[in-house]
Amino acid sequence: MMQTIYYDLRDTKGQQKEIEDKISAAARILREGGLVAIPTETVYGLGANGLDSRAVQRIFEAKGRPQDNPLILHVTGAQWLPRYCRDIPPIAYVLARKFWPGPLTMILKRSSIVPDATTAGLDTVAVRCPNHPVTLSIIREAGVPIAAPSANTSGRPSCTTAQDVLEDMDGKIEGVVDGGPCTVGVESTILDLTCQPPRMLRPGGLPLEDLERLIGHVDVDKAVTAPLGENERPKAPGMKYRHYAPKAPVTVVTGAPEASAREIQRRAGPEAGIICFDEFAHLFAGREVHTLGPSADKLTQAQRVFDALRTFDGSGVREIFAQCPDNRGLGLAIGNRLKKAAGFHVVEADSQRVVLGITGGTGAGKTSALDAIRALGGQVIDCDAAYHEMLAHNDQLRNAINEKFPGVFRADGSLDRQKLGREVFAKKDRLDQLNAIVSRFLVPELEQRIRDLSDGLYAIDAINLLESGLDRLCDRTIAVTAPVELRVRRVMARDGITEEYARLRISAQKADDYYRSKCDCELTNAADAPEVFREEALLFFQRMVESIREEKRHGAH
Ligand code: TXA
Ligand code: MG
Repeated sequence: MMQTIYYDLRDTKGQQKEIEDKISAAARILREGGLVAIPTETVYGLGANGLDSRAVQRIFEAKGRPQDNPLILHVTGAQWLPRYCRDIPPIAYVLARKFWPGPLTMILKRSSIVPDATTAGLDTVAVRCPNHPVTLSIIREAGVPIAAPSANTSGRPSCTTAQDVLEDMDGKIEGVVDGGPCTVGVESTILDLTCQPPRMLRPGGLPLEDLERLIGHVDVDKAVTAPLGENERPKAPGMKYRHYAPKAPVTVVTGAPEASAREIQRRAGPEAGIICFDEFAHLFAGREVHTLGPSADKLTQAQRVFDALRTFDGSGVREIFAQCPDNRGLGLAIGNRLKKAAGFHVVEADSQRVVLGITGGTGAGKTSALDAIRALGGQVIDCDAAYHEMLAHNDQLRNAINEKFPGVFRADGSLDRQKLGREVFAKKDRLDQLNAIVSRFLVPELEQRIRDLSDGLYAIDAINLLESGLDRLCDRTIAVTAPVELRVRRVMARDGITEEYARLRISAQKADDYYRSKCDCELTNAADAPEVFREEALLFFQRMVESIREEKRHGAH
């Protein structure tokens, strides 16, 4: 066993001389044919002089890496491209200008100076300029391109800290440079520029959308989203290995976060380990849980995905279930790493369940909108009814209301709705107080109910959909709006009340603009005849449900 020297370069604002010495030492080892693990923004790399066959050969030995899997050359900028590549298309420079230094690896024709050991005998070479000041200094000082695969033992999750590297490589390499935890957390995006259109071979830290915005359509290699057949060979040789695999079998569950969490609850035995978004961790209390971060925060999920997989290695769990983000942005790379860990064992949660949140002021036409949803075979979750059910049975809720609104419960225990109504309709702060109490009790109850729903179409009918947080459970929120004068007339006719009282009730609520600005879409009811609106609403929801289901089908893989 050799001694692995640890170079702490986490803080580069301190003693300049000391820092330069460490960088020089690492560069010297590399120039002389040694192996040094180096930090990058994506994952740690296991570096060697990429022009030195014997040094490169040692990388394969230290990692236990299959010989047919080529390495990426790390350079300090596009000015190095002509030294190691030929027939470079102009688009390579366009991409480098925009995305280097950064998590983009380009596949180009190789020049003869690059040894077979580095490219595994291919006539192409992978090149990238990492976005880490320490590593850029080391490469500049070494004066040679650094071949560096991820610094993990082959088959294990990539390393995102120097400690991870030591776990796998201590005693096998000359040095480890600690540049702090990786900020991106998944490897670079690999783009093959030797074909037309360019082809993404591996999703990574640079989202597909960002690439396409700059250079137009990019093909996505099949190996990114599906397991390969017996005799199929991916264009990036590394994509064929079952990478990043913990010892226990992994099942990835796709779909909306609420749905995938529920699906995992259904499937996971008591000894299962769970990888989930922060919001759902409480559902799995008592089990071994590793969180990926909030469901809406893919930056954090990318940083944590390998750590979550890696931590299960030392654990006794029998199986692992993992929630998976959708394919947009970094989600494609995060999902790919999870699915590879699972050997593409993927379960799709409730792809056909659609939950719409309908809201809007009184008299706007919510009832007709809900009728349209029923006509489409949908089921309405009536929050008001749920509230009244809880009012009758939940003492904590009753006490909370009674405390703030003394005297609204009659002697027989029933609620005097008119009395409570008079208290809150004209007084905004009192209405807010009531809503706060109701939300506190109602939301968890409804969340539970909605989680338990099976496939199908559902609409949540709630005035306080947006304020209560129930909108999070919806695939789409819809504001039903209408001109105020129409609403006044409708409320008068519907409830048999005076114009003055109708106006009072409408003005006690939020204006249409509020709903319009907070909802995903708007359904306007300006029709004089209810049949006309019902017909419009039917079409509106039909299209919406179709497009949501379409999205879910695509998001799932
Ligand atoms: O972010 C990253 O790219 C990290 C850091 C260290 O830079 N490196 C990394 O290297 O992920 P590695 O070796 O774990 O993955 C390189 C991938 C492999 O799947 C390999 O097959 C592919 O790049 N590759 C390398 N050269 C290639 C080539 N000429 N043609 C096609 N694929 C290539
Ligand atoms: Mg790797």
